[in-house]
Amino acid sequence: MAIIFIQRESAEGEPRVGGSPETVKKMKALGLDVVVEAGAGALSRIPDGEFEQAGARIGSSTDAAAAEIVLKVRRPSSAELQGYKNGAVVIAAMDPYGNDDALREIAAAGVSAFAMELMPRITRAQSMDILSSQANLAGYQAVIDAASVYDRAVPMMMTAAGTVPAAKVFVMGAGVAGLQAIATARRLGAVVSATDVRPAAKEQVASLGAKFIAVEDEEFKAAETDSGYAKPMSPEYQAKQAVLVAEHVAKQDIVITTALIPGRPAPKLVSRDMLKAMKPGSVAVDLAIERGGNIEGAVADQVSDVEGVKVIAYGNVPGRVAASASLLYAKNLLSFLETLMSKETRKLAINPDDELVKATMLTHGGQIVHPNFKKED
Ligand code: NAI
Repeated sequence: MAIIFIQRESAEGEPRVGGSPETVKKMKALGLDVVVEAGAGALSRIPDGEFEQAGARIGSSTDAAAAEIVLKVRRPSSAELQGYKNGAVVIAAMDPYGNDDALREIAAAGVSAFAMELMPRITRAQSMDILSSQANLAGYQAVIDAASVYDRAVPMMMTAAGTVPAAKVFVMGAGVAGLQAIATARRLGAVVSATDVRPAAKEQVASLGAKFIAVEDEEFKAAETDSGYAKPMSPEYQAKQAVLVAEHVAKQDIVITTALIPGRPAPKLVSRDMLKAMKPGSVAVDLAIERGGNIEGAVADQVSDVEGVKVIAYGNVPGRVAASASLLYAKNLLSFLETLMSKETRKLAINPDDELVKATMLTHGGQIVHPNFKKED
């Protein structure tokens, strides 16, 4: 029986885990021998005993050496790579862009590494989409983080002692994280507005009961790529957007930014001047900080005071709701793993022509094989 190893994350600040009792049961049913590294689920509130009850054996880091498949959250470190057997399949969020040395090291270790974040956004792969499962929780947590440092109540409260007005929340970037932030802020009773450069976002924002704010010119109408992502906007558009946004931001209590453009630094959307124009005690959350941030003056992993506004810029926001994030992430990994196994032989049967494999396989047989990362000869 092939051994699958669920590794404890060694990266500091990473509380998530790539397996759950539910996925362990399903992996056993697939015919795999599941070994979980002791303590792997501790920070996600999954004690070793729960993994054991689901049918896993609790092991140590040395068990990686016998595993045909390793499930992780983060790209393996050099030390972890040395512990894997040649030819092992390693599935994780590999963060491949701009990390050429790390990719070469993974290739040299002889493992077949799969980058979950490169999963195509097609219907078949929806259950494997870690960007969506994790961004959704990040959007939720951004609102919770903002509310927790906001010195006022978020919902309108009409009491005998007077009325507390509802907080005004503005969400910039209405993708997966932004839409969940809108929904969460609405549930808390805020008055919510949102912006995006993709026209498709307009209807989605409206359907969640928020007001859509955007410069809707010709460029806006063409701002979505075929794969549904934002295009970088022209300096002219950005200038018009900045004027509109500045007026709007000045009237807000909480601003949450989530704007990203694939493969590029995050667009700067909120300047110091905009923050200065907000009321004292206002809050801004920058969910794009790991890609450079949308807010000027945001400091990674900190809540800082910028022009009188509390700017929250935590990295790894899904990790702040690790117990939920791990369950969804583990399910994403399992769904993908199922496509890599043969039901008949109950063994790994990776089809190199499968579009999911083509999109996610970074290294194989000692080489970097992904077209985006392989160096042309
Ligand atoms: P993302 O994380 O790449 O970006 C977040 C948001 O920022 C996007 O909505 C983007 O348009 C926006 N943005 C970029 N530049 C901006 C600017 N200058 N000003 C304001 N907003 C800006 O996007 P995410 O969340 O990954 O989703 C992108 C799209 O993909 C969405 O339409 C989403 O619904 C769709 N999607 C489709 C899936 C599927 O079909 N299976 C799965 C997940 C998402």
